[in-house]
Amino acid sequence: MADLQNCDFCSLNPLELFEQVTAQGEKVRSLKAEKAPKDEIDTAVKLLLSLKLSYKTATGEEYKAGSPPTDFTPVSNGPGDTEDNDFVDPWTVQTSNAKGVDYDKLIVRFGSSKIDKDLINRIERVTGHKPHHFLRRGIFFSHRDMNQILDAYENKKPFYLYTGRGPSAEAMHVGHLIPFTFTKWLQEVFNVPLVIQITDDEKYLWKDMTLEKAYQCAIENIKDIIACGFDINKTFIFSDLEYLGMSPGFYRNIVKIQKHVTFNQVKGIFGFTDSDCIGKISFPAIQAAPSFSSSFPQIFNNKSNIPCLIPCAIDQDPYFRMTRDVAPRLGFSKPALLHSVFFPALQGAQTKMSSSDPNSSIFLTDTPKQIKTKINKHAFSGGKDTVEEHRKYGGNCDVDVSYMYLTFFLEDDDKLEQIKQAYTSGALLTGELKKALIETLQPLIAAHQQRRKQITDEIVKEFMTPRKLAFDY
Ligand code: TYM
Repeated sequence: MADLQNCDFCSLNPLELFEQVTAQGEKVRSLKAEKAPKDEIDTAVKLLLSLKLSYKTATGEEYKAGSPPTDFTPVSNGPGDTEDNDFVDPWTVQTSNAKGVDYDKLIVRFGSSKIDKDLINRIERVTGHKPHHFLRRGIFFSHRDMNQILDAYENKKPFYLYTGRGPSAEAMHVGHLIPFTFTKWLQEVFNVPLVIQITDDEKYLWKDMTLEKAYQCAIENIKDIIACGFDINKTFIFSDLEYLGMSPGFYRNIVKIQKHVTFNQVKGIFGFTDSDCIGKISFPAIQAAPSFSSSFPQIFNNKSNIPCLIPCAIDQDPYFRMTRDVAPRLGFSKPALLHSVFFPALQGAQTKMSSSDPNSSIFLTDTPKQIKTKINKHAFSGGKDTVEEHRKYGGNCDVDVSYMYLTFFLEDDDKLEQIKQAYTSGALLTGELKKALIETLQPLIAAHQQRRKQITDEIVKEFMTPRKLAFDY
């Protein structure tokens, strides 16, 4: 689809446009109240109408007084921002609160919507599947436009899934399983195509890493992703370093996005500074482009209007706020999102698990012994200092990392509840809680490693070949 051209104020972002429409509306009102000359009022009204049209072109929505556009409202972020000092962006997740980031506040700050009981019930009704425990337990807690995806699905209209990974190291950690496990469930219950972007270019730009190493990490990570169980007939996995040179459709979308986002906007969203290399500054367009189906002409038969749903942890939302802001100006639909919370570091929920700190994480390559040692040695405990005190006062599940990990990986709701009751009452000691986690994680990771062993280079190559998937458009 051609870029939309009926935008006289295209250089302004939606929030600036919103402010200009509001100011111009006030000007028209006061001119009328002052009984100003007719031609002066007419000129002001004409400008107001033109601003309103530009606003509609930029946001896809009518201007509504008092309701600024949520996708582009700059998100204040940083220490001192809230009482809890929560900081969340694609590179850093930090809070001073031992219970972790205040996700309800984050929803308000990011302007997304809570995944509430009604939405979960609707997903169950529409798909006929019991909601995944990540939904039931609030691990996927926030969304943007999920109801529109469900409307499309109910009306037998197609949509596709898009998620990704930045290959910062050869080994992935268990936190990365969250979006991929959930995406696999979504693919199964909705039976839709899935594209997975591996941003080896991003890691080359951000880390001290050669291009060769970034690509090598991409291939190793792809094996772990395939081992999550994705259907080869319904999934396309691509490395940016490889696919960008093969696909004019993908590159054209990147350039369109680059033309419609200013340096000021990305500075506001991502905090880039004048000394950041230009590769970083233009990278967000590369992560945005797979949200538009014309980036994959081989899958979608050149259609540019197939809606996209992106499951990810909420740290990736800044990329997609930018994408949703720019989409209507390119004539594309805004991608919908499902956001998860972060899998905390072993040391506590103040930070997320990170590939660059081996002691903060349990890796998919860890042996049973390493898993046991890391949990016993590093997992932050909500237990009391002595057994006597613990028996008397009980432990605190809200800050206990072993309990938090069980909420992610122990599927049995009743067993989880029993553990919670027993730990809170003091009947279950910290060592016993850690043992329950070790016994849950060891077989889960061993099974993942077994599946990964079966992934040959041929299988990787097939997933990475641009091709038609098992869907007709
Ligand atoms: P990356 O590699 O940092 O993370 C990959 C995916 O895992 C999520 N994630 C986590 N989820 C729960 N707990 C954690 N501790 C945790 N750490 C990471 C991320 O939110 C992400 O969903 N730039 C991206 C790659 C990317 C992408 C995408 C991700 C490209 N396109 C589309 C999501 C959707 C990155 O470096 O992700």
